[in-house]
Amino acid sequence: MIRINDNEFNELVRYIKTQYGIDLEKKRVLIEGRLASVLAEKKCNTFTDYINILKRDRTGTEVTLLLNKVTTNHTFFMREPKHFEYLKSTVLPEYEKTHLQKVFHIWSAGCSAGAEAYTTVMTLYDYFGAKKSSWDTRITATDISESVLAKGRAGIYPVDMIKDVPIAWRNQYFKQVDKDNVQIIDKLRKEVEFKTLNLMENFRFLKKFQLIFCRNVMIYFDQDTRTKLINKFYDVLEPGGYLFIGHSETIPRGTTKFEYVMPAIYKKVEK
Ligand SMILES: C[S@@+](CC[C@H](N)C(=O)[O-])C[C@H]1O[C@@H](n2cnc3c(N)ncnc32)[C@H](O)[C@@H]1O
Repeated sequence: MIRINDNEFNELVRYIKTQYGIDLEKKRVLIEGRLASVLAEKKCNTFTDYINILKRDRTGTEVTLLLNKVTTNHTFFMREPKHFEYLKSTVLPEYEKTHLQKVFHIWSAGCSAGAEAYTTVMTLYDYFGAKKSSWDTRITATDISESVLAKGRAGIYPVDMIKDVPIAWRNQYFKQVDKDNVQIIDKLRKEVEFKTLNLMENFRFLKKFQLIFCRNVMIYFDQDTRTKLINKFYDVLEPGGYLFIGHSETIPRGTTKFEYVMPAIYKKVEK
């Protein structure tokens, strides 16, 4: 396996950190291991050769491939179910009472292949039932990785990823593609718009969101990057809106204006 020297390692780590917020400082072994096949495929003899390819590429393809290798896109349906229970038991009833415009826009930030976004759509159908069509419930799902976004758009998943989905939902919202794969039905696929977005950039959304999911994404970022990102989420949420983060993640007290509701749930309460 090709070893990465200190200069190459520092250059690569600095580049990924400044462009994507991802902190690979302690991931030297992971970088060498996961990029071994990429270097071989590109016939690079050193990491310097590879870094030069990265620098020359203006299409973003090379860096996307790199990010796919060094981050994990692991996701599945009904992950961290407490969020979906809370959405159904508290958030949606609250909005139904107060939001007379019947608008509920959701952002799944760092959506990976879309399981989180589609689980949310199923929860919306489950809650609203026949009233669903009178609500504007758009879902924007974003990621830096094009390959996971393509999977999300196709909506095809190995059956293993839906093992926690209740049987009734499986029957209603998935069709069998072959013995190993299922596909989200078209009605649900149309509800989610998948887009490329690097969370390190400035957000340019035309409307505010009522709910943002950013779960199991900030684990890659250092505290300063996380705090900046959480404050950017605050700005694009409507007052009264919610932020759901991963259950292994926390927002340190006093670093943002969000109000703590319960583990992994925060609210924008403007006083
Ligand atoms: C482990 S997955 C989490 C998926 C989903 N939120 C969940 O909890 O199941 C993390 C995702 O964050 C994305 N990600 C990492 N850094 C990002 C960045 N700077 N901007 C946008 N997405 C990013 C990765 O590409 C990956 O798909």
